[in-house]
Amino acid sequence: MTDLSAVPTAVEAFAETTASALSPSVLVVNHPLVQHKVTLVRSEDTTTDNFRRLVREISQLLTYEATRDLAMETVSIRTPVAPMESPVLSGKKLCLVSILRAGNGFLDGMLELLPAARVGHIGLYRDPETLEPIEYYFKMPEDIEERLVIVVDPMLATGNSAIAALNRLKERGVTALKYVCLIASRQGLRALQAAHPDVLIVTAAIDETLNEHGYIVPGLGDAGDRLYGTK
Ligand code: URA
Repeated sequence: MTDLSAVPTAVEAFAETTASALSPSVLVVNHPLVQHKVTLVRSEDTTTDNFRRLVREISQLLTYEATRDLAMETVSIRTPVAPMESPVLSGKKLCLVSILRAGNGFLDGMLELLPAARVGHIGLYRDPETLEPIEYYFKMPEDIEERLVIVVDPMLATGNSAIAALNRLKERGVTALKYVCLIASRQGLRALQAAHPDVLIVTAAIDETLNEHGYIVPGLGDAGDRLYGTK
């Protein structure tokens, strides 16, 4: 008989994937499937259609981890064989907020897993000189302050757009927030954590630096251009 006492519980296994050296509020999803797909998505040889498919797949794997602590309750059902008490999601309803335009590359995959989630959009562009975010669009569900909001943008570079988006959502009354990205720069992570220490950041990778244009190095280039083939 196998001794199962040394096998980690789901919670312990989850804790091992947490980048605790950085902070308990950063979760790096180091699952082999995610890491393999991140390598493919980074490569300049990856075509637009494959890039889009990979981002969608990675977004689903990140969503799986980002939603691991959702509240649950049991309901009574009948299987064809017997009645049982079985778990379902409870608690706050969800809203996914995409930072335009690259955030939209995450949405489709996430909505397949969370079909009842509402969706909001924030349009921010970076001033090419200052790299500061300038808002040009903000459209949210009316009851957003009652929801758990997951903000998505593949690239957390300087952190300025992420911080601006979270500021706006908190001004709008949102109290429960998570942030999901594909690649985070160390600088962006630090800035976001300092500004919003209450927000769990879920990422597939942390890269060391930014270049003079604010791109993550090595990163994957411009996520929006690679998603939509605009360059
Ligand atoms: N936005 C991108 O698309 N890529 C980066 O490297 C940084 C910001």
